[in-house]
Amino acid sequence: MTRELSLFYRFFIFVTLIQVISTVVAGEPQVPCYFIFGDSLVDSGNNNGLTTAAKANYWPYGIDFPQGVRGRFTNGRTVADIIGQLLGFPKFIPPYATATDQEINTGVNYGSGSAGIREESGSHLGNRISMDRQLVNHQTTISRLLALQNNKTFTDEYLKKCIYLVNIGSNDYINNYLIPIIYTTSSTYTVEQYAAVLVQEYSQQLKTVYNLGARKIALFGLGQIGCTPAEIKRFGTDGKPCVEWINDAVKLFNDELKSLVDELNSDYLDARFTFINLTSISAPQGDVPLPNVPCCQLMEDGQCVPNSSPCLVRDLTVFYDGFHPSEISNTLIATRSYISVSPTDTYPYDISHLARL
Ligand SMILES: *[C@@H]1O[C@H](CO)[C@@H](O)[C@H](O)[C@H]1NC(C)=O
Ligand SMILES: *[C@@H]1O[C@H](CO)[C@@H](O)[C@H](O)[C@H]1NC(C)=O
Repeated sequence: MTRELSLFYRFFIFVTLIQVISTVVAGEPQVPCYFIFGDSLVDSGNNNGLTTAAKANYWPYGIDFPQGVRGRFTNGRTVADIIGQLLGFPKFIPPYATATDQEINTGVNYGSGSAGIREESGSHLGNRISMDRQLVNHQTTISRLLALQNNKTFTDEYLKKCIYLVNIGSNDYINNYLIPIIYTTSSTYTVEQYAAVLVQEYSQQLKTVYNLGARKIALFGLGQIGCTPAEIKRFGTDGKPCVEWINDAVKLFNDELKSLVDELNSDYLDARFTFINLTSISAPQGDVPLPNVPCCQLMEDGQCVPNSSPCLVRDLTVFYDGFHPSEISNTLIATRSYISVSPTDTYPYDISHLARL
């Protein structure tokens, strides 16, 4: 416990330092706008009005969030929220579902819980906004911006300066490939083929992001899905800390995604893509890593039991529910994506560098 605490304290000092630096520098955000695509790791309320089991607009989600329950799948801020603060945005980027004309100038968050690269991913849970539909929504936002700014040259230049964060792909495993009784992907593809097929489809979507004006794009690799409490409970670990075959499958995807970043950067010389390596950033620290257990009480599907009491010391828990990191983990992930600590954290740029390009 002592060693764990001292590790967390060191981490706190680091985080506080970065927050101090970004406050001192603050005034103007590093970039004029910030757009977010992805799944429940970044969703800030887009699923609240949808018919789906994948919603987090109830207590104890949001227990540590300044505005309380909003639909975030964690106790506090998401990785996307914290990166927005590090970029110097004074307010959280609004969810697409409720963003007003006054708000969309600084960006929009399209993230949707249970959404995937593939259209069908997450469908057994209900409605969701797949990556393809998020791109259609982005097109709508651009039309709104064109009308509001009333100068196409200006809007085109403006969109090039924004940061675009994309965090998607986990549900193509968790809510697709890993559920063979509902989805056919695991009988159609080997894990190698699936990683290749997913990254191929993702690459088309990223070309659309580029064609819609993006030039600074950060792509989050997938986290260690085999270490999530829900998958550990479901599959068992054979005495290991995590479900290794799931992590191996996810690694294939991450390796392909990193190669895609090289390919996109050489194909589009006026754009910069970067890969965020969650395996490197969330590697267990110290000799006694924190256990892979959730903070809240879980329902069968891995989400928090509505109105249940979560754990008290939430700054010492890696996971909030069966799948989602706690705010303290999100803070670690966001700060190391923003300013990398290890050379393997980001490739080839961290987000602070991407913002300055
Ligand atoms: C439109 O925006 C461009 C780029 O900012 C600017 O140079 C130009 O003067 C603007 N045109 C009008 C009519 O305001
Ligand atoms: C991510 O970082 C780890 C080191 O922690 C490394 O082993 C792995 O190859 C990296 N993944 C990619 C896709 O670069």
